[in-house]
Amino acid sequence: MVSLSNKRVLLGVTGGIAAYKSAELARRLRDAGAEVRVVMTRGAQEFITPLTMQAVSGHPVHLHLLDADAEAGMGHIKLARWADVVLIAPASANFLSRLAQGRAEDLLTTVCLAAAAPLAVAPAMNQQMWVNAATQANLVILRRRGVHVLGPAEGDQACGDFGPGRMLEPLELVAQTAQLFASGKLAGLNVMVTAGPTWEAIDPVRGITNRSSGRMGYAVAEAAAEAGAIVTLISGPTALPDPQRVETIRVISAQDMHDAVHARIDNIDIFIGVAAVADYRPAYVTAEKIKKSGEHMSLELVRNPDILASVAALTRRPFTVGFAAETNDLEANARQKLESKRLDLVAANRIGAPGIGFESHDNSLLVIDRTGSTDFPTQSKAKLARALIQLIAEKLHAAKQRSKTKSRA
Ligand code: C5P
Repeated sequence: MVSLSNKRVLLGVTGGIAAYKSAELARRLRDAGAEVRVVMTRGAQEFITPLTMQAVSGHPVHLHLLDADAEAGMGHIKLARWADVVLIAPASANFLSRLAQGRAEDLLTTVCLAAAAPLAVAPAMNQQMWVNAATQANLVILRRRGVHVLGPAEGDQACGDFGPGRMLEPLELVAQTAQLFASGKLAGLNVMVTAGPTWEAIDPVRGITNRSSGRMGYAVAEAAAEAGAIVTLISGPTALPDPQRVETIRVISAQDMHDAVHARIDNIDIFIGVAAVADYRPAYVTAEKIKKSGEHMSLELVRNPDILASVAALTRRPFTVGFAAETNDLEANARQKLESKRLDLVAANRIGAPGIGFESHDNSLLVIDRTGSTDFPTQSKAKLARALIQLIAEKLHAAKQRSKTKSRA
């Protein structure tokens, strides 16, 4: 099944009769798990109403560039940053021409200029307009810039002609949009990710845990699956559903997580420890609920195994990536962790800053290894996870290349 879970699709609708299919497209994108925001040009509104697009996308439609209210809510830069992909469907001949020229005269063209996310267009126009040399020249420019051109299909047209220029059907567009996320950089590799908190029982009803939501680890697992890996996610207790295309194993305590990891570690190529594993657990778990008695009570704690360090210490070890949540001296502490746990890479998290970290949807990371560091600024955990997976893939391929050269020498 096609999945766009955790993906933010900015759907741009321009003026053409195929705009009637944009409502169906928004529905199908959401069925596939995407969050959809819609931007309509003035021309689009001649064919379909913003109200329809609002109803099917579940959010108010963005229409104007210079609208103080809209800019105060989600302005053009915020919209551009929000998107994981910008999909223009239908893309009229006029819009393609404006895009090729890099114009910023209305909201949609401006968002396209401001977005760093992949840009895909689904052209829809009369077949003669499609074959026109001007349109074709614009497409050459756009393709050269990395714009993905989806379709068009050939067939009967609303104007009575027959030929190329029909917008692809919504389900086909959903499938092709999902394909844009499949980098294949980890094709065939086995990846294991730990995520979420652990729960260290004190008695049958109480326990020690932490505020990890599991979102970052789940996003990393999904991004690895998107990159073509076979992914096993070992998750502590979270409220999140199992990610699609990922084998998810639910555990409770750090010891359970340790055992689940080591039972499956043999053929793993990349291990990413995102879980916020409790360092200590109660020395004794009582079979019955502890009753309150005196004014004070003490709990004896014992150390839990360090799962990440135990994986990095294996003789046939995978490429091992750790996370470090730090409130201060981010880089120094992360470097120390890199060395003490003998890791290949550490992704360091600034915690304590407003709007990022444990329970939020956004995060920022400083990723370090022995050759240097890469800074990923605050963005959605899904976007961040994709960037991290790309970096891990590059580092792993570089390490493989180095060991090949060494063994040849
Ligand atoms: O040592 P610290 O807890 O700061 O290290 C964090 C990293 O180590 C994370 O990647 C976390 O998943 C991992 N870890 C672990 N087992 C532990 C403690 C931490 O795998 N018992």
